[in-house]
Amino acid sequence: MCGIVGVTGTPDAAEVLLEGLKRLEYRGYDSAGIALIRGDGQLVVKEKGKIKSLEGALVGEDLTGTTGIAHTRWATHGAPNRINAHPHRSGNVALVHNGIIENYAALKVQLGKKGHIFESDTDTEVLAHLVDDFYDGDLTLAVQRALGVVEGAFGIAVTHVAEPDLVVGARKGSPLVVGVGNGVNYLASDVAAIMGHTRQVIYLDDGEMVTLRPEGIQTMNINNEAVTKEIQEITWDLGQIQKGGYEHFMLKEIFEQPQTIRDSFRGRILPDQGDVKLGGIQLTDWELRNVRRIIILACGTSWHAGLVGEYLFEEYAHIPVEVEYASEFRYRNPIIEPGTLCLTISQSGETIDTLEAMREAKRKGAKVIGITNVVGSTIARETECGVYIHAGPEIGVASTKAFTSQVTILAMLTILLGRRGHLNADRGTQMLRELERIPDLVQKVLDQSEAIREIAKVYADHSNCLYLGRGVNFPIALEGALKLKEISYIHAEGYPAAEMKHGPIALIDPQMPVVVIATKDGSYDKIVGNVQEVRARDGKIISIVTEGDTEIAALSDHVITIPDTMNFWMPLLSVVPLQLLAYHIAVIRGEDVDQPRNLAKAVTVE
Ligand code: G6P
Repeated sequence: MCGIVGVTGTPDAAEVLLEGLKRLEYRGYDSAGIALIRGDGQLVVKEKGKIKSLEGALVGEDLTGTTGIAHTRWATHGAPNRINAHPHRSGNVALVHNGIIENYAALKVQLGKKGHIFESDTDTEVLAHLVDDFYDGDLTLAVQRALGVVEGAFGIAVTHVAEPDLVVGARKGSPLVVGVGNGVNYLASDVAAIMGHTRQVIYLDDGEMVTLRPEGIQTMNINNEAVTKEIQEITWDLGQIQKGGYEHFMLKEIFEQPQTIRDSFRGRILPDQGDVKLGGIQLTDWELRNVRRIIILACGTSWHAGLVGEYLFEEYAHIPVEVEYASEFRYRNPIIEPGTLCLTISQSGETIDTLEAMREAKRKGAKVIGITNVVGSTIARETECGVYIHAGPEIGVASTKAFTSQVTILAMLTILLGRRGHLNADRGTQMLRELERIPDLVQKVLDQSEAIREIAKVYADHSNCLYLGRGVNFPIALEGALKLKEISYIHAEGYPAAEMKHGPIALIDPQMPVVVIATKDGSYDKIVGNVQEVRARDGKIISIVTEGDTEIAALSDHVITIPDTMNFWMPLLSVVPLQLLAYHIAVIRGEDVDQPRNLAKAVTVE
């Protein structure tokens, strides 16, 4: 996903835009650009690479100007180079865009016939030309007309030299938030970009537009009908999106987990009653008791959290669960029967596949609960029931603290549903008392970071890695493998431990490290057997075991211990050493941990 910033009404416009881009850089970062309206026309500067490269390109430029727009890009159409970077220009129009214009090829042909000449390979440039083509003195109207003929998804910000203090924004499928200031107004794709300037914001909904001038803002829909929007106050602060002394956001976020897990359950548990209270779930006890089936929709790390949820719901709430890749679900013909509860899990709340899958489930009559981190995100706003995970802003592209908070919420939902069915009060109480200890137990795992770094040194130059786990630790194996490949570019696969012998075992040799999650649980003896199979083929074994373990430890080359806890909560502990292992390996390899190549924090394209 890309980042948009816009501002009007300040002589520091260029500074505001660049600072905003830096706060958004984690979302897309292969090129960046800025358009500033100056007395003599407009300055457009773009550069391949990160914001630092753009700043370099701006040295020596006259940056006076009070209105402008800027963009950091994660390429969809056309290579990540300077020409394809945004803003795109046509005549006096400058435009930045997140999303995809699906019918751009046809529009390009039509505009080409009218004499428009294109320099980039992007769909966005076509939209800039379309706005220019419709322009006859009123930018807002021109944007409305242009959006009337495009198909696809967009969050856009547009300026025109002839209306030098105006920024026009519009959204459909890609978030935009307006920052309301005093004589200065802001627009961004993410509140992080502007919250250093104002805490009063308006979230635009799909099909809505905004015009920003120094003296005020106006909201309307794409058909030019006025829309009244509520101004909301941002409650978290900027310190939460700074590194706080850590070398990387990812490490900071890994280390925040004792706190973020606590924040996820704070005020929501009733240990004495063995029950939980989730304010955003407006379902009656009758409705909760009548959930016959759960469908979990998510992508990436959130999908792995969903898989953990599957084990928990089936085992402790006795409700059948299917965990679906959102991208597949939305294009099948899913069967939603009465009593189907759909859980939509998304850190960002903006992942397009998850959002569309959720809309499809709603259309077919499912009750939908959104489990998101970003307050005011599209998924959060489109679900009548929802639970915020309260993990605070997650900046590192590789998701860590959001995962443990998602699992915490899923476990709490299990208790909520279980207690209206098969789970007895004593068991609920035990689970919740144990949850209160989890943050301290996570801290004990974090305290081993240095020891894990030593293990990372041994394997940092390997090219492959296998992760094995059984039961609730199988999704943790998947998540561990995903973390490693995302940030270190080492090929890694997660497998159910027993499945290893149906294929992956062929890969095992002394060059193949195998990470085994073998905590004390019902399948421990089975996993001992799987570890022996690896040992017999000279594979290298890194095991994650429960404190006091001797059997698997004796078979392993490296051992990481985690404190004992109920199997129900184990994923919250067992994932942490895998996050640290991936982190240290990537750092040792010299990779850019917070901004891994080709990835984006929130993927708002299909
Ligand atoms: C991208 C990110 C992943 C994330 C996935 C789902 O691929 O790089 O870290 O897990 O999207 O994101 P969501 O915001 O929906 O949880």
